Amino acid sequence: MYVSDCISVNERGHLTIGSYDTVELVKQFGSPLYAYDENEIRKNLREFKKSIDDEYGGNGLVVYASKAFCCKEMARIVADEKCGFDVVSGGELYTALSVGFPAEDIVFHGNNKTEDELRMAVENNVGRIIVDNLTELHNLNSIAAEKGVTVGIMLRIKPGIDAHTHSFVKTGQIDSKFGFALETGEALDSIKEALGMSNVKLRGLHCHIGSQIFDLDPFELAAQVMLDLFKQVKDETGIELEELNLGGGFGIKYLKSDRPRAYSDYMRKVSTAVNSYAADLGLKTPFILIEPGRSIVGAAGLTLYTVGCVKDIPDVRTYISVDGGMGDNPRYALYQSTYEVVCANKASEKRDWTVTVAGKCCESGDLIQEWTRLQPVEPGDILAVLSTGAYNYSMASNYNRIPRLPVVFVKNGKAREVIKRETYEQLVECDV
Ligand code: LLP
Repeated sequence: MYVSDCISVNERGHLTIGSYDTVELVKQFGSPLYAYDENEIRKNLREFKKSIDDEYGGNGLVVYASKAFCCKEMARIVADEKCGFDVVSGGELYTALSVGFPAEDIVFHGNNKTEDELRMAVENNVGRIIVDNLTELHNLNSIAAEKGVTVGIMLRIKPGIDAHTHSFVKTGQIDSKFGFALETGEALDSIKEALGMSNVKLRGLHCHIGSQIFDLDPFELAAQVMLDLFKQVKDETGIELEELNLGGGFGIKYLKSDRPRAYSDYMRKVSTAVNSYAADLGLKTPFILIEPGRSIVGAAGLTLYTVGCVKDIPDVRTYISVDGGMGDNPRYALYQSTYEVVCANKASEKRDWTVTVAGKCCESGDLIQEWTRLQPVEPGDILAVLSTGAYNYSMASNYNRIPRLPVVFVKNGKAREVIKRETYEQLVECDV
């Protein structure tokens, strides 16, 4: 009935997440807030894991891309599900390490990691650092040499694939700030340089072609392009690389019209392609890593707001203003992202009113959704914006000095805060 399997309506006509009444969540934890169904997160992690087991003989690792949603409890859950953790900053790395996440299964990304971040990764024995450029490669080798260790690395390659998605979230093409270019020979030269270094161990290659992708073909193509490079490396150096990291990017359902593919379909297609293509090229089948972010947490989460005012501008439009906005969800302002909006306390009523949902920030562009269908709402009603589990909390800001929202996880009839609501005192904590 809704875009997410974990969302439903109970006998009181209230929207539920993981069978928990969302109106009760607001009573218990205040408004606005983010809520997640923990079982849905775990189910998604397991589905990816199972698809590697079933389709690729278990010869791979699911690495959760924590940029989608990062907090200590998330890191604990990912560790518990025996998956890896992808971080892109010292902050995400710190979060993982602070709960004892196994460092060998941490993958450290970023196109401009600072020296401090590289040191932190080396000192904590991070298993794979995804090197983005030559400056970083040299810095890392020096840091590792200074400490007398060898660091596991992969090189990030731009495979030159154009995945059909929003241009801000496309990263695999040559005009991208991420990684080494194939076409110019930069990738092969850098691989040779890395292979000749004494304090880095090149475990393999990485690519990521974009985000919110529904089409499976670009992933298959990327795998083939990368294996061609594996072959070139073998021919020219005699060394066979062992690991292929295919990144993330699997699309989720934001609207009913979105048609994401089953994750097993993706793994089947990629596994078949990798197995047969590697055999054709005379290569061993590589250990595979995948880095899903959005598809793990996106549809497992929603945001709950309280309606403040309803402003009807005759012949123009109706604005429904809520007690959050672009601070907790910048995605409409940034990408014109689509969402399904529901009145949580009138969920069984018909959505036959066309409205624009606005936030409370001092900015006209502070909108959550325009021209969306909604039940007839009044001040005090609770609005739920669905599928906000990825890149909402993680991209939130304190614009207008609005405190960040709490995050509540529900599981088996229980709800608990995993991130507390920010207080005004915390807002001024770093001010001098
Ligand atoms: N691996 C790498 C190297 C990435 O750069 C990303 C996302 C992922 C994995 C995870 O991709 P996912 O499975 O979540 O699509 N802020 C944008 C999304 C930016 C994605 C950046 N990289 C949004 O809100 O749509």
